[in-house]
Amino acid sequence: MALLEVAGLHAGYGALQVLHEVDLTVDDGDITVILGANGAGKTTLLRALSGMLPARGSVTYDGTELLGRRRNPARMGIAHVPQGRGTFGTLTVEENLRVAGYHRPAREVESSIRRWQEFFPRLGERADQPAAGLSGGEQQMLAIARALMSAPRLLLLDEPSLGLAPKTTRGLFEGLKRINDETGLTMLLVEQNARLTLAIADHAIVISAGRTGEKRPAAQMWQDETIQRAYLGD
Ligand SMILES: Nc1ncnc2c1ncn2[C@@H]1O[C@H](COP(=O)(O)OP(=O)(O)OP(=O)(O)O)[C@@H](O)[C@H]1O
Ligand SMILES: [Mg+2]
Repeated sequence: MALLEVAGLHAGYGALQVLHEVDLTVDDGDITVILGANGAGKTTLLRALSGMLPARGSVTYDGTELLGRRRNPARMGIAHVPQGRGTFGTLTVEENLRVAGYHRPAREVESSIRRWQEFFPRLGERADQPAAGLSGGEQQMLAIARALMSAPRLLLLDEPSLGLAPKTTRGLFEGLKRINDETGLTMLLVEQNARLTLAIADHAIVISAGRTGEKRPAAQMWQDETIQRAYLGD
């Protein structure tokens, strides 16, 4: 069953139209990746889905239309980890987690903080340090843990591998896969790094110049020569 269904989505910035007739579905419980080069419209797509950017078309989430109404996707269970992470550098790691759970009951927030600090042990070890002092990989973990603090049903991730060494990315993606396996949390990632994302994804879609292609099983996308030339550096 599709948790998210996007049809005929158009979005852009003023006169600049970036997304043209984007269609895609994200199945409940799946990890879906959208692969695209720089400037393809990946970030714009996630912004449109999380209501940060006006858009035309249809975005149905869990059977409810999100566009054209006063809906707050964050309150409906859609969490967005933005490109460049968006953590608060002067707050400690633990404070970053606590503020991200602001709309949940205090007891739940404390148990979620413990849960994600156990899941990402570095975040537990560095609980009292300012987020600005974390390494790139640790900051990305913190950004993801912050999103998880809202107890989402759909996690949107904007290029989590950006600026990370392949080994760090692999560890981070294994963490995402484990969360998906253990909790069934649905994830939509946008990425340029096909090699590492296709390894954990169930389905993949290519976006090119603001237009989406067909959704295919990740393993099948991996075999595609065009994909290999464009995103795997062969
Ligand atoms: N705030 C903005 N104002 C005007 N144009 C923008 C803005 N943000 C992005 N664009 C333009 O929209 C197009 C798509 O940008 P977008 O950030 O969605 O691409 P992307 O696929 O996320 O690229 P990258 O991999 O580099 O992050 C680009 O041509 C970009 O210059
Ligand atoms: Mg981007």
